Parts: sequence; structure tokens; C-alpha cells
Amino acid sequence: MDTTSLWQGTAARTACLPTLQTDIVIDVAIVGGGITGLTTAMRLLEGGMRVAIVEAGRVGGGSSGHSTGNLYATLDGGLHALARMRGGDTARAVVAGRNAAIDLIEATVARHGLACGFRRVPWHLIAADASHVGIIEAEHAAAVDAGLPASLVDGAGIGLNPAVELEQALRIHGQAQFQPLDYLRQLLLRIAGADCLVFENTRVLAVDDAAGVVRTEQGSVTARHIVLATHTPVGIHLVQSQLEVVREYAIAAPLHDSVPEPGVYWSLGRDRYSLRSFTEHGRPCLVVVGSAHPAGAEAVGEERFRHLDEYARDRFPIGPVEYRWSAQRYRSKDGLPFIGRNVDAARAWIATGFSGDGLVYGTLAGMLVADGILERANPWHALYDPARLAAGKRPDGFERERTEPAEPDSPPPLDAPRQAALADLPPCRSRKLEVDGHPVAVYRREDGVLLAVAGKCTHMGCDLNWNDAETSWDCPCHGSRFGPDGRVLEGPALVPLGRA
Ligand code: FES
Repeated sequence: MDTTSLWQGTAARTACLPTLQTDIVIDVAIVGGGITGLTTAMRLLEGGMRVAIVEAGRVGGGSSGHSTGNLYATLDGGLHALARMRGGDTARAVVAGRNAAIDLIEATVARHGLACGFRRVPWHLIAADASHVGIIEAEHAAAVDAGLPASLVDGAGIGLNPAVELEQALRIHGQAQFQPLDYLRQLLLRIAGADCLVFENTRVLAVDDAAGVVRTEQGSVTARHIVLATHTPVGIHLVQSQLEVVREYAIAAPLHDSVPEPGVYWSLGRDRYSLRSFTEHGRPCLVVVGSAHPAGAEAVGEERFRHLDEYARDRFPIGPVEYRWSAQRYRSKDGLPFIGRNVDAARAWIATGFSGDGLVYGTLAGMLVADGILERANPWHALYDPARLAAGKRPDGFERERTEPAEPDSPPPLDAPRQAALADLPPCRSRKLEVDGHPVAVYRREDGVLLAVAGKCTHMGCDLNWNDAETSWDCPCHGSRFGPDGRVLEGPALVPLGRA
């Protein structure tokens, strides 16, 4: 299935940047060209540093280009939930930092003239049934306490098709939306140059924190600081033991009338959905996000997209779905992201645990990491400092930080009898086997060719599960995902699955 996102499908095209093919020395190496990496680069450039961005695919092609494009000061997990867990001062500080990040995006758009559709819009949280009204009221109280311009509204005032169930809603004014990939691609054009080298299609193979070297297939970057801006840091890091990984799905379909007024709409009911409209060349469409599940869960299939399609079609006059995509969230168990110098690291900085709030937290992370490297004070440094990880005992497997390739499991090749036993596996279907004690993951391509790879994740060895919605082998432990041919798609794994 084509899982090109709406943002990838509608962003202005830009030329591909070169792959790193030599060894370079620079002030800061940034691994990952999403909103965290580019914001960090922009701030470091302003501070007089020279940087190199190394991106495994195209800039913005990872989580940033698979997001919702929504920018808000509150939180996916609930501001009142954070206030209950960490106190009102923490909730207020989180909101202040996230407001500053949205302001930075707005200022960057204005300063560089980025045509990315940035606009201020209201954000809404909707109780779809009476059982969720209490959450709306608690979120209202927490938002007001944090200084947000929040009010309770009824259905008539909300600008959403009346077919969407609504008992009560919370509105926060002055939040924002944009086209995230247009933002990143245009920002890249403004900052790339002699002091900001950018390499696309350059996968990192290892990071040597002590020596300050980032190794890739055909070259290396030696730097005084290394920023792991890859949504979750690549390699094995203590922080991964403190993250839960969730996958969520999105669809976009043309909408001929009943177009929601510009804004963010989160609906809480039996299931949870995020709705927004997006207009391209005068043609409106509806974006629906939901169907979340723990990443790497067994038997994930196309029903995730079907479910969103049915939800949308029952409530809006949409045309055929034109875009389907999904994204991963890394949710911190203690409610706050980890942003700053990595625990026990000499040179490595991390930024992860953004939950579903990554466009704003990624921007805030760029501000925080750049300030840390430039040795400037930042009012939110202590709040997100990964140093809090050091307080606990290291769990098994996380005895030390390491960003080096593990030895992948190498299952034996599938011999003729085993291939014959797979004759009943239809095209576009997968199966898990055990061959001489090795788990093997098999997928038959549409053209009949069998692809057999190791069934154990190369990160820390968890068993993989098939994701039929996205044609990938997904890991339930820390979010690594692999293509049917074994290549790394995302997550902390550094090396592909061994071919059987
Ligand atoms: Fe950690 Fe797979 S992502 S074991």
C-alpha cells in the first residue's frame, strides 16, 4: 500500500541533496533532518557554529513529514494529567516552553518568508459523549491555570459538522497549523550552505561518542558535539527503557462541503480522533488521525485505515481517500521528554519522548540543545534534562550507552524443501518460521518472490511482528521497523535484518 503522507504529496518539490562521500570535520554533527535537527541547526548557525546534518532519507521524510501539521501549547496526554503527575508549576513551564516554540516557528516563517500555510487557529478538545465531559472540564481548569486563553463552548460555536458527536468542548485560541514539509524544505533552502552542510540518503552506521565521530557508509563526520535528532536516538540508550512506543494512522480525503473551520479538533469518545482540514490550490480535504496501538503489536492490518475511513465517511461527505500514512510516537513514562546532553555522554545530545506533540517539542528541543551547546542559559533546561535518567538502576541490556552496530542474527538460507513448504503463502502475505533455531520472517512479494529475513530485531533482539498496513516488520520493544527485505525503516536499530 502506498503510504505517502498528505504533506509529502502536496509539498513543493526540492532537489535531492548529496550523499556524504568523504570525511569532514565540523563543530556539530546533527543526525536526523526533521524539525528537531533543522531547528537545532538554525539556532547553532545563528550562534556562529558550523554544522553538518546527516539524514538517512530526505529531509522531513521521517516523523515530521508524517505528522498532523498541528501546533499547540497543550499536550496530547492531557495537561491536567501532567499537572497531577508533576505539579502545576511543571504544567505551566511546559506550556510556556511550547508557546515559545510556536512563536519561534511563526517568527521563522516570517523572517525567511516560508510559504508553508502557517496560520493561527483555535484548538479544540471535544467530548463525544457524556462520559468524557469530566476530562474536558479538567483540561479547561488546567489550561486556564497554565495561562492559556481557554473557554468551554457548545456545538453551535465550534465550526464543525454537526454530524460529529459533541457533548461539550474546550477551545484554546491562538494555536497554529502549517504544512510541515513545506516548512522544513524551505527552511533547509535558507540555511544550507558552507556553514550548514546537509547530506541526504546517508544512513548512520555508528556513533563514537568519545572520539566524536559519526560514521556513515561512505564517509564520516568528526565533531565536538553530536546531536541525535532521530526521534529516538539510534543505538542502545538508557532513555529507550523509559519510552513507550505507539503507532497511529492518518487519512486525507477530498471534502466538497461541510469543511471544518480552520482549527485543530480532537474528539474523545469510545475511540480518539484528531480532525483538521487542509486546502491545496482551493481544494479542501479532511485529515483524520487515530486508530493508535502499541508499536509492533501483532496482526496489524489495513483495518486501521478502514476504520478511519468509516469514521470520516459516516460524518463528512468525503470523496475517495487519497493519502494514507502513519507515524510513531515515543511517550515518556514520566510525562516529559528527554532533551539535552545524554546521560554519561561526552558529546552526544538527545531529544526524544515527544509523544504526539513532536512538532512543537522538536522545535523546543532545537532551542534547548542549541543553547546547551552554545553554553547559554535556557529556562527549560532542567525540566527536560536527561540527567534524571541516572537516578535509577540501569535495566538489563542498557548497562552502557552504545551507538555501534550489533551483530545481526544470520539465519541459514531457506533450502528447497522449506521453500516448497511455503508454496501455500499467497502474494502480499507474511509468515514467521523457525529454521534451525533461528526465527525467520518471510514475506511473498506481489510478483511471487519470497523475501526471508531474520525474525529478530537488530536493536536488542526482540521478535518482530508483521505490519500489514505498512508492509513492514515492526518491533514491539523500542519501535524499530524494517522493510520486507530487512532494511531499516525507522527506530533505534542501526543495522538491517540478516537475509535468510
Ligand atoms: Fe529495541 Fe527492537 S527496537 S529490540
